[in-house]
Amino acid sequence: MALLIKDSEIVGLVSVDEAIAAIHEGYRDQGEMPAFSAPRLRIQHQDRRLSVHTGGCHQLGVSGAFLHAERFTYLGGAQQYTHIGKRVYVTYNCDTAELMALIVGSPSLFSFETVDEAMGTETPCTSAVGTDLMARQNARILGLYGTGRQARRHLVTMCAIRPAIDEVRIYSRSNQNRAAFVDRMQPHVSARLVVVDTAEAAARGADIICLATGSNTPVLHGEWLVPGQHVTSIVGSNKAVFQQGLVAEPRREFDDEVIRRSNRIVATLKDQAIQDEQGDLFQPVHNGLTSWDAIIDLGQLASGKIMGRENDREITLFKQNSDQGVGYMALANLIVKKARAAGIGIEI
Ligand SMILES: NC(=O)c1ccc[n+]([C@@H]2O[C@H](COP(=O)([O-])OP(=O)(O)OC[C@H]3O[C@@H](n4cnc5c(N)ncnc54)[C@H](OP(=O)(O)O)[C@@H]3O)[C@@H](O)[C@H]2O)c1
Repeated sequence: MALLIKDSEIVGLVSVDEAIAAIHEGYRDQGEMPAFSAPRLRIQHQDRRLSVHTGGCHQLGVSGAFLHAERFTYLGGAQQYTHIGKRVYVTYNCDTAELMALIVGSPSLFSFETVDEAMGTETPCTSAVGTDLMARQNARILGLYGTGRQARRHLVTMCAIRPAIDEVRIYSRSNQNRAAFVDRMQPHVSARLVVVDTAEAAARGADIICLATGSNTPVLHGEWLVPGQHVTSIVGSNKAVFQQGLVAEPRREFDDEVIRRSNRIVATLKDQAIQDEQGDLFQPVHNGLTSWDAIIDLGQLASGKIMGRENDREITLFKQNSDQGVGYMALANLIVKKARAAGIGIEI
């Protein structure tokens, strides 16, 4: 029998650390069996879109799809959602092919959010998997760009993978948003939160630079980077936003110089960047600054086939260009196991 699980039933069921570990296992399986996975499919009509992330994790015994719909706007040069539908996980036992569970809504992983705000909680955990495998172990200063939903969560997941972080420099365009971010988030991390007035000030001296913005244009410039830094960036997008005229150029979160300066570039999945012609990777490859062969998939790192960094001098870049089905399915698998053990959900 399959389980029907609602987001309101699983608040606090999975910790941030457990979610990161589960998603890591999903990408490990993808690294070993990439054919049991496909890039996110997104269909779009102007500001309406539907996304389907499919994936299978052969060692975890789960496969399925994660679906979501939104309407959005690019008012002010950054993406914002005007309507958000509940996320749905459809999971199968890939050994028996039985339907395992339907989970309605993303799991509420963060204590500073309500269940209704818990949309896209998986993204900062995927970012944490890649960052953990690439950033220097002795990272102490985080430069954080953005003060919205993903920035709040990335603050927590970045501090979770590097507990020695003791200072976070926060930048977004509005000083009111920066101040509100500190007020809301300081109680949730031990690191000292400091606002900075310029984008450059968040990057200078940071060990980890995390871009968690809705921006359509570069917020990080490669000329600011120094050896040893790690950059994680989350703006992904799809080519229809450009082809349908919603943006003048494909969305970018960093400039070409970041690509030029990076010794190692990892994508959540480069086939996603190729399929969607995502600006941060597709444009530099198209312009000959790097090549697809030089870009590594997260699965290769998570399965231990390739190291995330060779030494403490390298500049490393994780383009978290879209959560993949394998991560969602690995997390769903954990949720279902915990829900069954706790007697949560309805048998269907
Ligand atoms: N990779 C993935 O798997 C994945 C999954 C989901 C979402 N995303 C991406 O995550 C992005 C953010 O989503 P969200 O839910 O956090 O949006 P949000 O709550 O609207 O927050 C966006 C933040 O970006 C800041 N911002 C916008 N332009 C900026 C700029 N030029 N410089 C610095 N900060 C800037 C805004 O602050 P100010 O207005 O104060 O500047 C705001 O705090 C989305 O655009 C989406 O592309 C990626």
